[in-house]
Amino acid sequence: MTELAFSSVFVPDGELKRQAAYRERVRLLLAKRYLEPPLCHLHTFGCQGNVNDGEKLRGMLAEMGYGFTDRKEEAGLILYNTCAVREHAEDRVFGLIGELKRLKRARPDLVIGLCGCMIQQKAVAEKIQKSYPYVDLLFGTHELHRLPELLYEVLSGQKKVLSIPDSDGMIAENLPVRRENSFAAGVSIMYGCNNFCSYCIVPYVRGRERSRRKEDILREVSELADTGYHEIMLLGQNVNSYGKTLSEPTDFPTLLREINEIPGDFWVRFMTSHPKDATEALIDAMADCGKVCKSLHLPVQSGSDKVLRDMNRGYTKEDYLKIIRYAKKRMPEMTLSTDIIVGFPTETEADFADTLSLVREAGFDNAYTFLYSRRAGTRAAEWEDVFSPEEKQDRFSRLLNLLREIGENRYTPLVGQTKRVLVEGKDNRKDKLLSGRTAENVIVEFAGDPALIGSFVQVRVDAALSWAARGTLVE
Ligand code: 5AD
Ligand code: SF4
Repeated sequence: MTELAFSSVFVPDGELKRQAAYRERVRLLLAKRYLEPPLCHLHTFGCQGNVNDGEKLRGMLAEMGYGFTDRKEEAGLILYNTCAVREHAEDRVFGLIGELKRLKRARPDLVIGLCGCMIQQKAVAEKIQKSYPYVDLLFGTHELHRLPELLYEVLSGQKKVLSIPDSDGMIAENLPVRRENSFAAGVSIMYGCNNFCSYCIVPYVRGRERSRRKEDILREVSELADTGYHEIMLLGQNVNSYGKTLSEPTDFPTLLREINEIPGDFWVRFMTSHPKDATEALIDAMADCGKVCKSLHLPVQSGSDKVLRDMNRGYTKEDYLKIIRYAKKRMPEMTLSTDIIVGFPTETEADFADTLSLVREAGFDNAYTFLYSRRAGTRAAEWEDVFSPEEKQDRFSRLLNLLREIGENRYTPLVGQTKRVLVEGKDNRKDKLLSGRTAENVIVEFAGDPALIGSFVQVRVDAALSWAARGTLVE
């Protein structure tokens, strides 16, 4: 593969101003056309990075005069911000677009738009144009900041608009943002990916790796801390390669240390780290910085060196174990989570056994498990499976069983301890309880006043459940 050496390219100020002018044009057009502000039904699929994009879409739409609704039936604009990582996510969107045909027939002035990773794939955009001709607006990942202009074209001309340029990607600073939550915020620090893991569509739909300027990130985090945010999640496909594309190169451990110096009572988390770039310097920065949560998400994907090589991951099982051993030595209280793919095309039973043995050895506190999903255009998509679909399913259940077994008593050591918890909301399962998280990312349930949502509290852990700790609020 050729050397990928790009620098961060920023959307010029002139273009950002042009889009701001379009926001105003859309606002005036809507005000003339409708008595009440029209409503947008915006739904984002996929990762936290996409959620962060969704917050920018929401910010731009709010400035253009849109209100928001969960109900499609009352929306004047339906916009799906899509994900392409696995086929299942795409199928859901296809299903939803199919359902919109009826609404569009009843209300021809309804605007239907699709954007995000799924749309950045040429074949998908073509399929949508052909099979769902009532979709008005399709735009790719590199066009997010141009939503005002594209929407203006749809609204003023009542014509279909398609904008999916091939691009290495740029960075658009200072877009309006409407955050989903008033105490925990995602802050993108870099975009794109250069790793080309052989199963992954992301490098094709998100463009080349590019980092935001450090001063822009520090300013955003300071503003969030000043407005009372208690959790900052630093986001990127591979945060560990932060800084390489800047004119003044820097690195992620340095960024963490500088963020840690920002005044305020907040926790810092980050995702996702690539094990091949997870250095001792990163672990040292985590250990040294009081605001950085001692919880590491380090996707391993497989425990077999052969599969890791076929996946183009750039590390071995031993490399992985080495860095987590160092991390646990530096931070004994640290929790570790991971992603695992089952059924990669070249995975034999012996390779899968290596994954099971890694799971036993690594002591993951949490693992997100995925069935391999073939993504057209990636290298692995061309390889035949060396196992049957039944074997793939069987491996998946065996992995889940092992994780369940290992996880069974993971919270028992917390019983009797009092932990600082950020209260996130009402508990999904038991409405009377509140639910929050410790710095180590352990879910804690306890009885309390919903007014506490968004604040830090102290909770004494009384019991360990299999998925969470149960406790009592300490005054
Ligand atoms: N099939 C299954 N899982 C995938 N992931 C990425 N691409 C695929 C794919 N083609 C998983 C990886 C990654 C997580 C975000 O999604 O485990 O870490
Ligand atoms: Fe995909 Fe690998 Fe990049 Fe993660 S690091 S987004 S798995 S290519």
